[in-house]
Amino acid sequence: MPGRALRADQRAPHTAGQSADQRQDGDGPAPPALGTTGRLLQRVRRLRRALRGAWFDRRLGVETRNRVITSSRSSEHFGYEAADVWQLEKVLPRREVGPDDVLVDVGAGKGRVLLFAVRHYALRRVIGVELMPQLAAVARRNVSARPEPERCRMTIVEADAATWRVPEDATVFHLFNPFGGATFRSFLASVVESQRRRPRLVRLVYSHGRHHRDVLDAGFEVVRVRPRYALYQRHPNQEDPLAEPLRAGQGPDDPQ
Ligand SMILES: C[S@@+](CC[C@H](N)C(=O)[O-])C[C@H]1O[C@@H](n2cnc3c(N)ncnc32)[C@H](O)[C@@H]1O
Repeated sequence: MPGRALRADQRAPHTAGQSADQRQDGDGPAPPALGTTGRLLQRVRRLRRALRGAWFDRRLGVETRNRVITSSRSSEHFGYEAADVWQLEKVLPRREVGPDDVLVDVGAGKGRVLLFAVRHYALRRVIGVELMPQLAAVARRNVSARPEPERCRMTIVEADAATWRVPEDATVFHLFNPFGGATFRSFLASVVESQRRRPRLVRLVYSHGRHHRDVLDAGFEVVRVRPRYALYQRHPNQEDPLAEPLRAGQGPDDPQ
């Protein structure tokens, strides 16, 4: 099923001005053309990110930086590209994460977010959910390269996030452009369902913003917006008028 194109007013504010490869939407409206300065700045940012990635891998003895284009790349399943984890602090400051929090990286790839988060935040544990077996295998290898105190707080689950049962202790979800369409909505429905089983505040750290509307429709509210990420939260026991369509993996304007 092709993903829905969002109107400009449905896009998350943090995607404004992002280039097509930053968003990887494929079917959204074309971004405004960048001038010479814009292109130069974009190159500088990419270079900085690549250098940081290389430094991160070297320092931790892992491999996360090489991109992987998967064969099932489609509007619902995007390939692997590591997140710019150094932007996370801007949207989710360290002081707002405590030892009762459990972070799930949805579409964990090679595990960079887990490897970073377990060192940077006082999280109880981190879970990476990854669909592609070869990427999950690299993530496990990366985790096993880390010392015991970090390793024992990281779990890699090989699963489809659309059908994975969200654990009841999960409180922070990170999504760096993993998938679109019905998969995204099914995942949101699982989060809402887990919140129904165990009422708690849940937060969503989401880049690229393509599914901003779906996140709001699932009962989340925007907490803050930064250039690469937006932070949303959903309160426990919140009214959930879209529970049924979400559970069925349908959005409000999908064909019935
Ligand atoms: C852009 S990468 C992000 C990697 C990682 N989260 C990071 O930030 O470094 C998206 C990942 O989502 C995975 N993915 C795509 N569809 C998925 C699904 N339905 N369930 C779980 N993972 C999925 C892809 O295989 C890919 O590794």
